[in-house]
Amino acid sequence: MSYDLIIKGAQVATASDVFSADIGVKDGKIATLGQDLRDAVEIIDASGLYALPGGIDSHVHISQPSGPGVVMADDFESATLSAVFGGNTTLMPFCLPEGEESLRAAVDAYHAKAAGNCHVDVSFHLIVNRTDPQTLGQDLPALLEAGHSSFKVFMTYPGMRLTDREILEVMAVAKRHGAMVMAHAENDDAIDFLRDAAESSGQTEPYHHAATRPVPVEREATHRAISLAEIAGVPLTIVHVSNGEALDEIRRARARGLRVHAETCPQYLTLTAEDLLRVNFEGAKYVCSPPPRDAANQEACWDGLVRGDFELYSSDHCPFVFDSKEGKQAPGAKDSFRHIPNGIPGVETRLPILFSEGVMKGRLDITRFVAVTATNHAKLYGLYPQKGVIAVGADADIVLWDPARKEVLRQEILHHGSDYTPWEGFEVLGWPVTTILRGRIVVRDGALADTGRHGKHLERSLPGTPF
Ligand code: URP
Ligand code: ZN
Ligand code: ZN
Repeated sequence: MSYDLIIKGAQVATASDVFSADIGVKDGKIATLGQDLRDAVEIIDASGLYALPGGIDSHVHISQPSGPGVVMADDFESATLSAVFGGNTTLMPFCLPEGEESLRAAVDAYHAKAAGNCHVDVSFHLIVNRTDPQTLGQDLPALLEAGHSSFKVFMTYPGMRLTDREILEVMAVAKRHGAMVMAHAENDDAIDFLRDAAESSGQTEPYHHAATRPVPVEREATHRAISLAEIAGVPLTIVHVSNGEALDEIRRARARGLRVHAETCPQYLTLTAEDLLRVNFEGAKYVCSPPPRDAANQEACWDGLVRGDFELYSSDHCPFVFDSKEGKQAPGAKDSFRHIPNGIPGVETRLPILFSEGVMKGRLDITRFVAVTATNHAKLYGLYPQKGVIAVGADADIVLWDPARKEVLRQEILHHGSDYTPWEGFEVLGWPVTTILRGRIVVRDGALADTGRHGKHLERSLPGTPF
């Protein structure tokens, strides 16, 4: 047999082109793009479907320590199962050291959690939440050299937040090793001030999570993170940008010649702070940081995606169970939004939402969809051209999309460990029906076809540029 698999008759889309071709797969790689391919162990008739590169979600949280008594709703098995049903073939979770654990020990622990449990490939970013000599002098350099070439710094959250001085020190390590710094940009002191004021006037419901993290909190921190990166002389990625004013800071920085990349997420395109007003504590289902904003900021985020200012569209999947004391109803959560775990599930719904709202509604061309959901992630984080593209020699990570299939997003059709979806009842047109990981059909016609957990950890080269 010439091929292990041939996909026949699909419209193939890359970040630059759409064309009709048969795809020949051999030994887990794309071997041929051509016409009238024959002779394979298996042939899939994909007429009427799109063949897109498997989604890469470069911002997910899995099994991450989340504070005393709070447990994330997904482990690697459930998160990657949810991901593969949602048309993804690579996830990039964050490694957060727990307590006094060293960064290196944290990475070892994540490898152990992931090994043998993944339905898609994974590659870890690091979280740098302290700047002691072992972390900055030994662990971080060694891990960056070993292929964990990107890490996140937080400007908020107790126990995670770094000071400006610390961020500069960490950026200096990134500069020496050519790594990518990702910043969570919110001004922690401002949040603390507003939160104390809200609590002392009895404003403790979930909605006040959003009210105490207004746009200037994010805009100021975005400006500051960019300035720190400029001072340190490193490229920067601002993750989960929620609004037009923060995006304007990024545009201005680029106009000054700085290398600043930007990511947005489905919650900032489709949800608003009003969702946090839902009764019976259901507003807690939408508590994430930065919070969803308003219709004008949704439009600003859409504009940023369409114009190419956002190179990345990720889920920021950070799932908790709603109906649990280990989740959204953690001790104290009903007394104050301060105690509600931050984060929402979304790894399975990320791609259908953008395909439907973006491509099918004519806002986004399909090549741009491929760029912001796969190719740019691979380029920026050192996985290209192995991942993120349908091209000869690339891994055969291919998703077949049915543009005519209608679905209603509902908790009961999803595979994550959370007990709700923020998009309950959201109607979508277009669905990822078949997901292929390195030539293996993992999901076929909407059903799990291979229970084998064939995902592996990917070591990465240095960050590149999506342009
Ligand atoms: O609320 C969120 N986004 N939680 C996840 C952690 C983070 O900041 O990305
Ligand atoms: Zn964050
Ligand atoms: Zn996150």
